[in-house]
Amino acid sequence: MDGKVIDFKKSKEKLLNKKFPNISSISNNAKGKNYYETTKTLQDFQNIFLSYGNYLMNKEHNKEIKLDEVLVYFNRYFDEIYKEFTKFDDSKVTTFKEAMDYAMISSGKRLRPFLMFATYNFLLGKNILLLSPFMVAMEMIHTFSLVHDDLPCMDNDELRRGKPTVWKKYGEAMAVLVGDALFMQAISILNETIYNLGYTEIGSYVITASNIMTRLAGIDGMITGQVFDVMNTGNNALSIRDINYMYEKKTTALIVASMLVGASLSVIHSKNFPLIDELGQCLGESYQIKDDLLEIESNTETIGKSIDSDKKNGKITFVSIVGVDESKKRLEQLEKRSYMIIDKLTNQNNYREAMVYKEIFKYIFKREK
Ligand code: IPE
Ligand code: IPE
Ligand code: MG
Ligand code: MG
Repeated sequence: MDGKVIDFKKSKEKLLNKKFPNISSISNNAKGKNYYETTKTLQDFQNIFLSYGNYLMNKEHNKEIKLDEVLVYFNRYFDEIYKEFTKFDDSKVTTFKEAMDYAMISSGKRLRPFLMFATYNFLLGKNILLLSPFMVAMEMIHTFSLVHDDLPCMDNDELRRGKPTVWKKYGEAMAVLVGDALFMQAISILNETIYNLGYTEIGSYVITASNIMTRLAGIDGMITGQVFDVMNTGNNALSIRDINYMYEKKTTALIVASMLVGASLSVIHSKNFPLIDELGQCLGESYQIKDDLLEIESNTETIGKSIDSDKKNGKITFVSIVGVDESKKRLEQLEKRSYMIIDKLTNQNNYREAMVYKEIFKYIFKREK
C-alpha cells in the first residue's frame, strides 16, 4: 500500500510450495487461538493480492495476472485457516469431522470472506491481524446455511458444489449436526477474538464487527429470510416487494455483513459505512437474481447444483415474476449503481485498491456459477 514493489513470484512460490510459517496447534483447552500465526499466511496472500493491483495499474510492465488465479491462492490460504480454527479431538467422531470438512473444503467460491478481505483492502486497512477469524467464521456461517438449506425438510436438494449434499452423503442427522457445529464454532471463533482483543483500542471494532455478523446472520437477516422462504414455498400470491424482502434477508444480509465487517476492521471513519452498506445491498440483490437466472439458463455441470430446484419446490422467484429480460435489466442497473458507489469512495490514496475492487465486482456480476 505504500507503493513499494511486491515480489509476486516469490509470494506465489511460497504458497505453491506450501512453505507456510509454522502454524502451531491449538492448545487442549482451545484457548488463545493462533490467529497471529494465520496472519502470517494471510500476509503472503496479501502480497499476491497487492501485486494484482499493481498489475492493473501498470499492465504493460507486468505479465498478465488473472483474478481467477488470485482466487486460487485465496482458496488455498482459506483452507489452511479453516483447518487451523477447527482442530479438536475427533478420534471418536471421525465421520463427523469428515462430514464437516466435506462441507467446508470443497469447491465453494468463498466469495463472502474474499469480499471481506477486498473491502478491507479497498478502505486501506492497516492491520490484517483480525481478518482471519472473521473470514473463516463468515464462511462457516454461510456453509451452515447451505447444509441446512439442502435438507429434505427445506429445499430437498441432492447436489451442492458439484457433489452430493451433506445429508445425501452422510444422512440427515449428521447434516443437521454439521450445520450446528459450523455455526457454533463460528461463534466461538468470534468470542475468542473478542476475548483476546476486547480491552484494547481495536477491541470496539472487533465487537462491532462480531455484532454485525451475528445479527445479519440471525433474526435480522439470513435466518429470517430462510423462514420467509420456507413459509411461502408454493405461495403464488407473493408480490415483488415480498420477493425483495426475502432476498434482502436470506442472501443480501450475509453479503452486506461480509463487506461491513471488512470496513469495520479497516477502522475507517464510520461516515463510509452507509455507502458500503448500499453497495452490499446492490451486490446482494444482484447475487440472488443471478442465482435464479443461472438455474434457468445454465446447466447442472456448471453451477454444481440442481437446475430445477425452484420449479420442483414451487418457489416463486424474482425471475419467475418479472421474466428473464426484466431481470437482466435490473442486474444492469445494480451493476451501474455499484460502480458509481465505488467511485464515490475512491480518492487519490486508494486509486489502485479501487481498481481491484471494481474488477472483483465485475467478476461477480459476470459469474457463470
Ligand atoms: C449460494 O451461495 C446461495 C445463495 C445465496 C445464492 P454461493 O453461490 O455463494 O455458494 P457457494 O458458497 O459458492 O457454494
Ligand atoms: C440461498 O437460498 C440462501 C441461503 C441458503 C441462506 P437458495 O435455496 O435460493 O440457494 P441455493 O440455490 O440452494 O444455493
Ligand atoms: Mg432455499
Ligand atoms: Mg436451496
